Amino acid sequence: MLKRSHYCGELRKEHAGQKVILNGWVQRRRDHGGLIFVDLRDRSGIVQVVFSPDVELEAFRVAEVVRNEYVLAIEGTVRLRPEGTENPNLLTGEVEVYASKVEVLNKAKTPPFYIEDGIDVDEQVRLRYRYLDLRRPEMQRALELRHKAAKAVRDFLDRHGFWEIETPMLTKSTPEGARDFLVPSRLNPGKFYALPQSPQIFKQILMVAGMERYFQIVRCFRDEDLRADRQPEFTQIDIEMSFIDREDIMSLMEEMIAYVFKETLGVEIKTPFKRISYQEAMLKYGTDKPDLRFGLEITDVTELVKDVEFKVFQTVAQAGGVIRGLNAKGCAGFSRKDLDDLTKFVGNFGAKGLAYLILTPEEVKSPIAKFFKEEELKAVISALQGEPGDILFFVADKPEVAAQALGNLRLHLAQRLGLIPEKEFNFLWVIDFPLLEYDNEEKRFVAMHHPFTAPMDEDLPLMDEKPLLVRAKAYDMVLNGVEIGGGSIRIHRRDIQEKMFKLIGLSEEEAKEKFGFMLEAFEYGTPPHGGIAFGFDRLVMLMAGRDSIRDVIAFPKTQSATDLMVGAPDVVERRQLKELHIKVDLPVKEQQ
Ligand code: AMO
Ligand code: AMP
Repeated sequence: MLKRSHYCGELRKEHAGQKVILNGWVQRRRDHGGLIFVDLRDRSGIVQVVFSPDVELEAFRVAEVVRNEYVLAIEGTVRLRPEGTENPNLLTGEVEVYASKVEVLNKAKTPPFYIEDGIDVDEQVRLRYRYLDLRRPEMQRALELRHKAAKAVRDFLDRHGFWEIETPMLTKSTPEGARDFLVPSRLNPGKFYALPQSPQIFKQILMVAGMERYFQIVRCFRDEDLRADRQPEFTQIDIEMSFIDREDIMSLMEEMIAYVFKETLGVEIKTPFKRISYQEAMLKYGTDKPDLRFGLEITDVTELVKDVEFKVFQTVAQAGGVIRGLNAKGCAGFSRKDLDDLTKFVGNFGAKGLAYLILTPEEVKSPIAKFFKEEELKAVISALQGEPGDILFFVADKPEVAAQALGNLRLHLAQRLGLIPEKEFNFLWVIDFPLLEYDNEEKRFVAMHHPFTAPMDEDLPLMDEKPLLVRAKAYDMVLNGVEIGGGSIRIHRRDIQEKMFKLIGLSEEEAKEKFGFMLEAFEYGTPPHGGIAFGFDRLVMLMAGRDSIRDVIAFPKTQSATDLMVGAPDVVERRQLKELHIKVDLPVKEQQ
């Protein structure tokens, strides 16, 4: 076989006159009668190869029969393209390779879709033929970026004294609170391992074990409903450190992210990142992962409108609810249908309606304007900085519903109005999360992050009386409205850990059964410690400018958690089930 001397994509006019050997796939073949042009592709790019009967008849004959995606080895000479035939769209567009020899290393069936960027092909088909999908340059660039980002992370952390330590995949339930994937144990009939939702407990135990600085680029498994930024198995950059406080880890992580962006994309990220409290995020942006690339902030106007004659506002305010609004700048021209659609849109998030004031130079158009006294109208318009040409939207509801509805309306309007600068990377920290939230289904408190997260020292006295007001030493890193990482300083005092377990309704026995080994470990000299985990797929997705983490994972799962290429999950043989003492009460493939 002719062994490659150069990659296709690296040939430039400096190479003119050189003899090269290329290996790659046929992107396209064009037969111009006397000449055959083959665009040859490898992972570095594409170069045009020319077959001429005058140069080498034998090679020309072979070129006559090659088809797209055939695998070729070519020997030839680099030449400058004749003037006027350069291709500015190709990095190699100034040159072409005149082939003197060609070997067909393999034939290929006609692929179900064309191997190029920006194809409009059903994702199911792309996933079924993932090896072809991954041949497309944009997918190769994404995986290259992913590799480079992982390497930058490792370099940075190594330089800062972190050790990469592996933790088990076959383990016990961890506390992140999603559903576990279970693995039956043949040697322990009736018992199951859980795949880790994260290495949370192990990394804390590594701190007890005196490792001081741990990291791992690690697969995590969560059986939850999937979305564009959620996969059942995904990768974390998992980090834990001893003898530090919140500031230490937050500033080091900013530095790490800035380093990764600089190394991989050449982009300067300014540190320190902006910080906002959970409270402020919920109030102004209606979400705990706000996108700050644009304004459209939400304003609470409860105090200003609680006495307005409009029944809805009065009732909601009296019931302890809120009235919040946002100013859709320059949208006074929205049609009746637009307004109906937006009302339906916020309805998806539980809002019972969407009140609005359309501000025109002459008047305020609105079905509810008539309920406002002149001063009331002025006050609310001024609170939202309304000007002629704007529409002010309002939702009156429980704080959570108003936040969710308006937070989503904010994003929706920003997209529709083109307010989101595409190329910007906007980082922030959300801090001061509540330690607990109330789970209405389970009728108990649950840890907002996880039950090992430490409360703020100054809030400790509230733990007994007003647990919902206790803030946590937790922090999330948000990039362009996506939560890319989250962590906390951990509880390292036994009394506080016990109080926490009690608050979330875990009895002493249950706590012992679930986390006994950890509590025991904690009695042998636990250093103060804390950490964070980044969603690596999400980070790379945003770096690559993609909308789905599936585009930066080599072999992702579909929305219904299946792998269309290998066909997983699948039924198994009866014998395997028997060995595991498992009975399935669904039809099983008969295969003995
Ligand atoms: P958390 O549960 O917040 O924290 O997860 C950390 C980060 O992982 C990413 N992530 C996901 N990415 C893709 N698919 C998923 N299904 C998925 N779930 C989470 C998110 C998230 O910010 N052990 C703690 C960290 C700690 O306290 O140190 C943890 O796992 O980007
Ligand atoms: P109605 O009194 O039901 O005709 O509603 C008058 C206007 O108030 C309509 O535009 C509704 O969409 C809106 N509206 C109704 N309930 C709410 C609510 N909870 N929050 C905000 N607007 C509402």
